[in-house]
Amino acid sequence: MADLLGLLKARRSIRRYHKKEVPREVIERLIEAARWAPSGANIQPWHFVAVTREDLRKEVGDQAKFLFVKSRHVSEAPVLIVICADTKSAFHLVDCSLAGANIIMEATSLGLGTCWIGAFNEVRIKDILGIPAGMKVVGIITVGYPAERPSPPPKLSIEEILHWEGFGGTGRSVRRSMLRSGPLSVLPRILKMIIRFR
Ligand SMILES: Cc1cc2nc3c(=O)[nH]c(=O)nc-3n(C[C@H](O)[C@H](O)[C@H](O)COP(=O)(O)O)c2cc1C
Repeated sequence: MADLLGLLKARRSIRRYHKKEVPREVIERLIEAARWAPSGANIQPWHFVAVTREDLRKEVGDQAKFLFVKSRHVSEAPVLIVICADTKSAFHLVDCSLAGANIIMEATSLGLGTCWIGAFNEVRIKDILGIPAGMKVVGIITVGYPAERPSPPPKLSIEEILHWEGFGGTGRSVRRSMLRSGPLSVLPRILKMIIRFR
């Protein structure tokens, strides 16, 4: 079995790319991965616009800004995958995000770098790419051969984000409280009796 956890840990958001073309079959393979994502009631409310033309990438890149700062990597990446969600489906945001995650991980497994772009002018991008009304642009994924190896960013620890049997619950206190009140509560008393009568 492939080491999926290893791949998940190795993935980084890549913001510098080689000027090397990504073959069409590779892009199709990424969409093949997206297609197998789970979706609410299997509605699959997703469409993907692959943008490889330099002029279009630049136009889209000009609309990818965070607080007036342009994300240069958007126009520099050889491929942009624009994820469009059919808003008729109640779960369109979740479904399309899951499909995007599949794209990112399949790309990682093929040695490609990606970056999810969430800061952009949706109205302008829909206009540039002719995306119909009723579709929401959920995100843009930049794809290309990585020209950088960023070190891992800080991630929250398991202890900070995992809650046992209720928010704030730690595995240890749950076990202790079970010892106190559950069927196991008699165990310490039995142990004491055994020790006393040895
Ligand atoms: C919803 C979302 C929006 C994001 N938007 C942007 C963005 O607009 N520009 C960008 O450069 N990175 C963007 N990122 C990438 C994050 O900055 C990156 O995932 C985060 O810093 C953690 O780094 P890592 O992906 O290497 O683990 C976005 C990621 C997500 C999931």
